[in-house]
Amino acid sequence: MKLVPKSPNGSSRKAETLLSLGDPSFRKPVSRSRTIRIDFRDGAITPESLMDKFVIRGGNPLVGSVRISGAKNAALPAMAAAILTDEPVILENIPDVRDIQTERNLLVSMGADVELGYGRASHRTTISCNNLVNPEAAYELVKTMRASTLVLGPLLARMGRARVSQPGGCAIGARPIDLHIKGLERLGASIKQEHGYIEASADRLRGGHIIFDKITVTGTEDLMMAATLAEGETIMENCAREPEVVDLAALLIKMGARIEGAGTHTIRIHGVEKLHGARHRIIPDRIEAGTFVIAAVLTGGDLQLTNCDPDHLGSLIQKLEECGVSIKAGTDSMRITNGHQLEAADISTEEFPGFPTDMQAQYMTLATQSQGTSIITENIFENRFMHAGELARMGANIKVEGSRAIVRGKTPLSSAAVQCSDLRASASLVLAALVADGETIIDRVYHVDRGYERIEEKLKGVGAQIRRIGEILPRRAAAPSVVA
Ligand code: UD1
Repeated sequence: MKLVPKSPNGSSRKAETLLSLGDPSFRKPVSRSRTIRIDFRDGAITPESLMDKFVIRGGNPLVGSVRISGAKNAALPAMAAAILTDEPVILENIPDVRDIQTERNLLVSMGADVELGYGRASHRTTISCNNLVNPEAAYELVKTMRASTLVLGPLLARMGRARVSQPGGCAIGARPIDLHIKGLERLGASIKQEHGYIEASADRLRGGHIIFDKITVTGTEDLMMAATLAEGETIMENCAREPEVVDLAALLIKMGARIEGAGTHTIRIHGVEKLHGARHRIIPDRIEAGTFVIAAVLTGGDLQLTNCDPDHLGSLIQKLEECGVSIKAGTDSMRITNGHQLEAADISTEEFPGFPTDMQAQYMTLATQSQGTSIITENIFENRFMHAGELARMGANIKVEGSRAIVRGKTPLSSAAVQCSDLRASASLVLAALVADGETIIDRVYHVDRGYERIEEKLKGVGAQIRRIGEILPRRAAAPSVVA
C-alpha cells in the first residue's frame, strides 16, 4: 500500500481519503501494494464514520497464546526519524493501529512516500522523505494524536523550518510541550508561537547542553533526533530512560547518528552532516503485553505471551508477584497463570523503570478484584483517573482524592454500558468486562483502536466472549478527542 499526496503544492486540498483500487487516475499500484491518495482541506482527514462498540460477556478464563505486536510508542518516533534522511527507512514490526495510520497521513501530507506492506508484510513500512515539500503538522492531525509533535525536531534539523500545531490540553492532563521548545532553542532554533502554531526555524542547529526540567519521553526523543544533524556535540541530562527511547537511538545509530548513553539519564550526541537509510525492527509493545498479563491474572487463566520482552515489564511483574501471581518469564515470552485470590498492593506511577502510568488504569481494574485496600498514586499526569467513575458504575469501590485513588476490594463487577475516555482507560474497561457478571457494552472503542491491534480478535482467540458492533454516524462526525 502506498500513500501519495495528491498535490504537492496543495492546490486541491479537499478532505477525503480514497483507496485507489480500480481508479485509473491514481498512481499505478506496485505489485503486492495498494495506493492511497489523500487530499487535505486544511490538513483535515475525515476518519471513517464508524462509532464501534464492544460487547463483552464476562466469566471466561483466558487460555492459550497471544502474539504481542510492535510498540506503538516506539514506532511513532521511528517513523518521524525517517524525516532526517533522503534515503528510505524500512521499519518492521509496525503495529496495525490507528495512531500509526495518523502518522502515515502526517508524513504523506509533508510530501513523503509511505509504502505499506501488504498481506504477510503488513507490519512493514518503507518511508522515503526525499521530496519533503511541506514541513507542517496541521491542527487536524495533531489534535487527534499529540505524538504528531515528534516531527518538530526532525523537520527543523533536516529542513531548517517547521510549523507544528500546538497540541492543546487533553483528557489526561495539560501536557504542554514547553520542554521540546526550550530544548530546541538551546540548539539555536528561533521559535515563535502564534495562531495556535509553533513556527520554528534555524539555518543549522548547533550542539548544546540541555537539562530537562522534568523527565519527558517524547521530549527526549524529539531533541535526540534534532541533535543528530546539529553542528557539534549535544549533552542532554535528566533524559527519559524508557525502552522506546533506547529503540529510537538504535535506529538513529543505524542511520549513521553518533549517540551514546540512551537508556541512562545522560545522552551525548555528536552531530553529523547527513544520515542515511536503514532497516529496523520495532521492539514489542510492553503496554499491550502488560494489559494481556492482567487479563490472564484477572480471569484466572493460563496465557502464554510471545514476541514480548519481559525485561521491559520488570516493575509490573514484581508488583503482580506481590499480589500473589505466578509469572514465568523467558527471553521473549511469558507465561502467566493464576488460580489464587489476589492480595492488594499499592502502586505509584513513575518514569521507567518505575511502574508505568500507561498501566495504571489496567492495574486499577485488577485492584478491584484484590483482597484489601490498594492505593494507586498517579505521579505523571494530573487527570488520569477518568476510568475510576466507569469502574465504579460496574460495582467497584474507588475513592479518588487528588492524585490518589483508594480501591477497596474485592467487589464483584456487574455489566453496564460504559464509555472509553482515553486509550489506557479503555483497556481497563475491557478488562473489567472480562470478569463482570453479564454483558457489558463499551462505547467509543476508537480510543482502544488507537493503540491496541485487533484486541477483540486476540482476546477471542484465547476464549473471551467479545464482539465489535458498528454504528454508522453522519460522515463529518467530530474527530475523536486525544490522549496518551
Ligand atoms: C509518552 C507516551 C505516553 C506515556 C507518557 C509517560 C508516547 C507517544 N507517549 O507521552 O503513552 O503515558 O510518555 O510515560 O511515547 N511535560 C511537560 N512539558 C513538556 C513535556 C512533558 O510539562 O514539554 C510533562 C507532561 O505534562 C507530563 C510529564 O511531563 O506530566 C511526562 O510527559 P511525557 O513523558 O512528555 O509524555 P509524552 O512523551 O507525551
